[in-house]
Amino acid sequence: MYAIRPATEADVTFLVDVAATASHPDADFDRDQYAAWTRRMIEDLAGPSTTSVIEVNGRPAGRLRVARTAASIELCGIQLAPSIQNQGIGTAIIRALQEEAAARGVALDLGVERTNPNARRLYERLGFRKYAEDDREDKLRWRHDIWTSDVAGRYDDPGDRMFSTALLDATTARLAELAGTGRALEFAIGTGRVAVPLAERGVPVSGIELSPPMVEVLRTKTDESTIPVTIGDMAAVRVPGEFSLVYLVYNTISNLLTQEDQVACFRNAARHLSPGGRFVIELWVPELRRLPPGTPATVGIADPGYILLDTYDVLHQHVTSYHFTFTEGGTEARLERSPHRYIWPAELDLMAQLAGFTLESRHADWSGGEFTADSPSHVSVYRLP
Ligand SMILES: C[S@@+](CC[C@H](N)C(=O)[O-])C[C@H]1O[C@@H](n2cnc3c(N)ncnc32)[C@H](O)[C@@H]1O
Repeated sequence: MYAIRPATEADVTFLVDVAATASHPDADFDRDQYAAWTRRMIEDLAGPSTTSVIEVNGRPAGRLRVARTAASIELCGIQLAPSIQNQGIGTAIIRALQEEAAARGVALDLGVERTNPNARRLYERLGFRKYAEDDREDKLRWRHDIWTSDVAGRYDDPGDRMFSTALLDATTARLAELAGTGRALEFAIGTGRVAVPLAERGVPVSGIELSPPMVEVLRTKTDESTIPVTIGDMAAVRVPGEFSLVYLVYNTISNLLTQEDQVACFRNAARHLSPGGRFVIELWVPELRRLPPGTPATVGIADPGYILLDTYDVLHQHVTSYHFTFTEGGTEARLERSPHRYIWPAELDLMAQLAGFTLESRHADWSGGEFTADSPSHVSVYRLP
């Protein structure tokens, strides 16, 4: 239906025309200035944004400028020639950018002029919400929401190994031992898979969680006075009180997608701990040794009803996990996608060090199994002086 190709010097006149008619119908539009700026954008290959030509049926039909950084994708401008408008092409391009942002786990940002209510309505229909403003524009943001009501409703699965009594017994026994007589705080408490049985062992537990739907499921099991939960970001939110143990399990530190946020998470754990307090992390070891050159993905699990595929972006240290769950007959599958930043154990130790911790122990599992070069996962205990 449409194609997008990088703009060249030969496209400048077209790009000025399309910007003049689609976006700037007023007489003040300075073609020379816009052409010079467009030329600079096209020539600056190392610059933050890419200027492209949108083609429909092989002919130039519009202009697209997108800036990509490690933290976000910004739609800086999209204009279509009047004869191409209202055919769903703009929407299709924005949906493709949403797909790209979802796969990379970053936000898709744009600015919409307050004088353009039609464009704003379209963006809101596509799920964008206002997060800031300047004197001319509202800044809108879209982000792929993973921990929705739907996912929360399906999260607790007694058939899943992560919910097995043996695993939860070993996990909570170890956490209770590490908490001693103090209080425990779970970062990303979710539906209380671990927190509920830990509280049942007599350890006072609190939580931080980003997703209200996950907490709604937790609330079907226990009330606010038994396990208080603060909604917010585990890398930033401070909850009342002091703790002897903060724990972050089931690979969830990798849900923070930048090194900066992961270090902030360690610092936030330290902020909640009393002297000598511990921060426990359960995390998988990145499967880089299974990734020969030219192979961008690993198959983590291949069961009859479920396949886990991890695609690696080694440049940005990102993994996207694709969870395919097959229906009864096996002819269709539900796909869920989650972005992660993977961390080698040595980098994790350095993050801990930056936040004032030292590594107290590292085991392959909750039962104290030896951690070796072949361990797929680890339970690491960090301690404050
Ligand atoms: C794999 S689940 C783990 C839940 C629970 N800890 C468990 O072991 O079952 C990941 C959870 O992390 C939460 N989460 C992701 N990023 C977060 C953040 N920055 N701050 C707080 N919670 C976060 C999600 O909402 C989700 O509930």
